[in-house]
Amino acid sequence: MKTPVVIVGGGPAGLLLSQRLHLQGIASVVLERQARAHVLARIRAGVLEWGSVQVLRNSDIGERMDREGHIHDGTDIVWSNRHRLTLNTRRHAGRPMMAYGQTNITEDLYAARDALGGQVIDEAQNVALHDIDGASPFVTYAKDGKTHRIDCAFIAGCDGFHGVSRQAIPAAKRREYEKVYPFGWLGILSETPPLPELIYANSERGFALCSMRNPMLSRYYIQCQLETNLDDWPDHRFWAELKARYPREVAEAVVTGPSIEKSIAPLRSFVCEPMAHGRLFLAGDAAHIVPPTGAKGLNLAISDVFYLSRALTAHFKQGNDAYLSSYSDMALRRVWGAARFSWWLTGLLHRFPDQKAFDLRAQEQELSYLSASEAYMKAVCEQYAGLPFEG
Ligand code: APR
Ligand code: PHB
Repeated sequence: MKTPVVIVGGGPAGLLLSQRLHLQGIASVVLERQARAHVLARIRAGVLEWGSVQVLRNSDIGERMDREGHIHDGTDIVWSNRHRLTLNTRRHAGRPMMAYGQTNITEDLYAARDALGGQVIDEAQNVALHDIDGASPFVTYAKDGKTHRIDCAFIAGCDGFHGVSRQAIPAAKRREYEKVYPFGWLGILSETPPLPELIYANSERGFALCSMRNPMLSRYYIQCQLETNLDDWPDHRFWAELKARYPREVAEAVVTGPSIEKSIAPLRSFVCEPMAHGRLFLAGDAAHIVPPTGAKGLNLAISDVFYLSRALTAHFKQGNDAYLSSYSDMALRRVWGAARFSWWLTGLLHRFPDQKAFDLRAQEQELSYLSASEAYMKAVCEQYAGLPFEG
């Protein structure tokens, strides 16, 4: 088999890339290791920057998002059980945010790929990348007991943090930056109406977040120890702990009910440089991970794909490789912007095991200063709302 672009990984990054290339008349094949049902069942983040909303719209997958997504002006932060501030991105950065779950986006992408006859091969095992340094790379994989080979001009590595693509860049040419955090997030999904806005809490019991998916689906998180066992967290304990981290008026407004999903996610920051080698280009979690605070992971995957689809389109349609040559540097500038911001917001809102009285006061002071200073608020909001894409 032969195709212009092989895309490894059928998560949001890989599917969106194949969709955007298709709309430009460029064919691709997506190779996904898991079964489609597995990919569609994953519960992930749910807040889109406005730049992401525009990319999804102009990729012809914005219809359900525009119908069901919740446009909001920003997010609140409460701390010390009494103070409250609002990150109003519409006011301070000129653009709102959109609450719309990644699970829905993945469904929308699969539906769009199917409607256009896109080729997504699921349960592709042992995917291996070959000759990425040469002019004729190819990818092999196993399916139905046979080994298959696809020749291509380019390979897009969209196979997430645990994928194989990043490892195909020779170790000597790769630099990885990593930070792990001494806690995780215990999250639940419940079929209950969410609060009208997203509210982060920095409480003495740790971080918490009230978020939403749709009018009858809510997402809640509490900071937890890494060794937490889900069996120790029946719903009633989760709700009591969540409420204990909020001021009374917020706690009383939370509508509880049975959880339909419960999981623990560790927090990690990770960036791989460069994001390209030879004819391999990485996008999304394959190249970087941010802690979930600020919900930047999916937004970065979308901006990487925006840059990469533009670069491949310029190559195939105009014979112009300038964007391909600058892809890694350009994508990394935005990645580091979000990596720094997610790390900073994580530090501002969580309780760390080694935190001293001084550190706590400094954290409180930063939140007070953020509510008092228009200049600081503007700087935070323009990052929370998402940095602009480069031309
Ligand atoms: N071969 C083929 N597919 C693979 C392989 C492999 N060796 N390894 C992983 N995959 C698949 C995974 O099964 C998954 O479906 O690649 C896909 C990667 O998808 P994601 O992990 O969702 O990553 P990405 O598409 O970059 O999406 C960005 O945004 O909110 C964040 O972390 C969140 O998933 C999210 C991400
Ligand atoms: C979510 O709804 O999953 C979410 C929202 C905001 C965040 C992180 C996660 O900062």
